[in-house]
Amino acid sequence: MTGKLAGQVAVVTGAGSGIGRATAALFAREGATVAIVDLAAPAAEQAAEEITGAGGSARAIAADIADPGQVDSAFGDILGELGRVDVLYNNAGVNSAGSVLDATDEDWDRCFAVNAKGTFLCSRVAARAMVAAGRGSIINQGSVAAVVGVANFASYCASKGAVVALTRSMSVDLAPRGVRVNVICPGTVYTPLMEPMLRARGNGDMAAGLALTTAKYPIGRLGTPEEIAAVALFLACDDSSFLTGSVITADGGMTAQ
Ligand SMILES: NC(=O)c1ccc[n+]([C@@H]2O[C@H](COP(=O)([O-])OP(=O)(O)OC[C@H]3O[C@@H](n4cnc5c(N)ncnc54)[C@H](O)[C@@H]3O)[C@@H](O)[C@H]2O)c1
Repeated sequence: MTGKLAGQVAVVTGAGSGIGRATAALFAREGATVAIVDLAAPAAEQAAEEITGAGGSARAIAADIADPGQVDSAFGDILGELGRVDVLYNNAGVNSAGSVLDATDEDWDRCFAVNAKGTFLCSRVAARAMVAAGRGSIINQGSVAAVVGVANFASYCASKGAVVALTRSMSVDLAPRGVRVNVICPGTVYTPLMEPMLRARGNGDMAAGLALTTAKYPIGRLGTPEEIAAVALFLACDDSSFLTGSVITADGGMTAQ
């Protein structure tokens, strides 16, 4: 590894599983101390132990990013213990089910509470510390669902569209203060989050759901958490020093069609 984040503190939300977990591990291998923020305390602990077991540095913090009090307290602990936040990856997110015809109020509210408001809450507290330090990189987690319409995914598509718009707004406000903000829009990556969607798409048959989904990808396969982690690392470190407000699709050509 090349130490692209040597001496830095990186916060990754939703790092107990999937894309966030792979990214936390990569950031740690690149020299960062990683704060793993996740609703699921045991998963966060496990991810942190994996990193420290491999010789890296990590802290697990259990918090619901949709709750302003828990977010402030989590970042209070991080800043108190680690002294700074150089990188924030707003990765935690939830899925939805249903089209505009049948999605529930609860489904809409949860998607917006976690995906959109959670991103705002974590960014607000991290950005204040970054602005005070005069540098930082915030990476938001969008989705191809913010770029194209995905069937039966109304609340999720709308909440990820909000994340892309928030990214542009934040980038304009924070660029003069030394903080860059970009958003990744991944295509489908096989993680626990996607299993219900893939099963539903195959009418209960996971293999059929996977085949139907893969057919939408010109590259002929789904993505891996490690491939999205590599994009997050690029955005986190100085290799992307002229990028801010950028919407980076990482989707095997799905949205190019
Ligand atoms: N997997 C995909 O195909 C895909 C595609 C595009 C975008 N994304 C986005 O990538 C992100 C990560 O997805 P994943 O597939 O790795 O999912 P995942 O379910 O494997 O991991 C998500 C993690 O977020 C945590 N989390 C959920 N709600 C939270 C909350 N309120 N507060 C704190 N933590 C919370 C979960 O406990 C879990 O550990 C999400 O924002 C998702 O929308 C995923």
